[in-house]
Amino acid sequence: MANHNPWPDEGNTGHIWDEDLRELDNPPPLWWMLSFYAGFLIIIFYTLYYPTIPLTNSMGEKTEGLAGWTAVNEYEEDFKVLKDWRVAKFADKEEKLAAMSVADILKDDELKSYAVATSKMLFGDYCAACHGAGGAGNPSFPVLADDDWLWGGKIAQIEASIKNGRMGNMPAKGMMGNLSDEEIDSVTDYVIALSEGTAGDDAYKAGKAVYTKGMCLACHGPAGKPLAPAGAANLTDQIWRFSGDRDDIRSVIAHGVNVKKNGEYVAGTRKAVMPSFKERLPNADVNVKRLAVYIHALGGGQ
Ligand code: HEC
Ligand code: HEC
Repeated sequence: MANHNPWPDEGNTGHIWDEDLRELDNPPPLWWMLSFYAGFLIIIFYTLYYPTIPLTNSMGEKTEGLAGWTAVNEYEEDFKVLKDWRVAKFADKEEKLAAMSVADILKDDELKSYAVATSKMLFGDYCAACHGAGGAGNPSFPVLADDDWLWGGKIAQIEASIKNGRMGNMPAKGMMGNLSDEEIDSVTDYVIALSEGTAGDDAYKAGKAVYTKGMCLACHGPAGKPLAPAGAANLTDQIWRFSGDRDDIRSVIAHGVNVKKNGEYVAGTRKAVMPSFKERLPNADVNVKRLAVYIHALGGGQ
């Protein structure tokens, strides 16, 4: 830096390095100053135009700027575009589902996978509370993902279960309601033996006789397996509709299932009601079929 300023008239600040490197005192160029002020204006405009400051108004709604824009509104608009696109894209499939019978839908692989794929949410919303996620069952609510059916695993039977609902009936203490406590005990042991494959043993002769006396075979079949699905459980497998504990099994035999007197459930009877969904489901004409196809495909469909 030199003390002597060889360029006194050019408006430099007097700071000079390396002999001739000077710091000048020029105002910024006009274009720069204009952009600078314009930047301020843009900030003010932006703050007012978009909801920059996150306030809520007295109605508890999101702050809108002068533009009336919010991210939520934009999301909703975009979502609607997507939804409309999907409706349009799948309109022909939906029409086919509405027009075709469930049996025909099953024969059409593409339509079948479409029905299955679009059922999951529906099942979660309307069925899983009772039948468990993926139809895995819950205590007192049947598994839908196996091949053990109360009302039948043919597609038309599944469709009817969903559409009209189901309600199994089992009288208390045998068909005539005339079994004694001892008889109930021995038939309970016989039923457990049926599931374990030891029912032929001499020990269960008495129980077997009670099974005949109580006319259990009218519904559960002569060998513990219903001849046709009509709501009665198969007693020869290890799948229990209720807990499968001896006490529970005995209780079902003693108090029956869905036994009512004067319109009220009697004490101790098992409640097992599948509600009818033909009015409960939105767009039921299509959705009952969709769900029937889904359940048929869970693994146990016949
Ligand atoms: C309130 C509880 C409940 C809800 C919700 C429910 N179910 Fe059921 N569902 C049952 C019960 C209980 C049974 C057994 C009825 C019986 O024992 O007779 C059943 C039986 C069935 C059966 C017959 C099973 C068989 O073994 O034959 C099908 C199929 C079925 N439900 C499908 C559905 C579908 C699909 C939905 C949803 C749209 C649904 N259920 C919603 C309680 C329910
Ligand atoms: C009128 C028909 C009917 C008669 C008669 C009948 N049951 Fe049942 N039984 C049913 C139905 C229906 C169910 C299943 C209800 C359900 O799951 O919703 C059932 C369920 C059972 C269960 C529970 C099975 C399980 O998986 O938890 C047992 C055990 C049983 N019955 C034993 C008997 C015995 C023993 C007799 C004779 C004393 C008998 N039942 C008579 C209709 C009948």
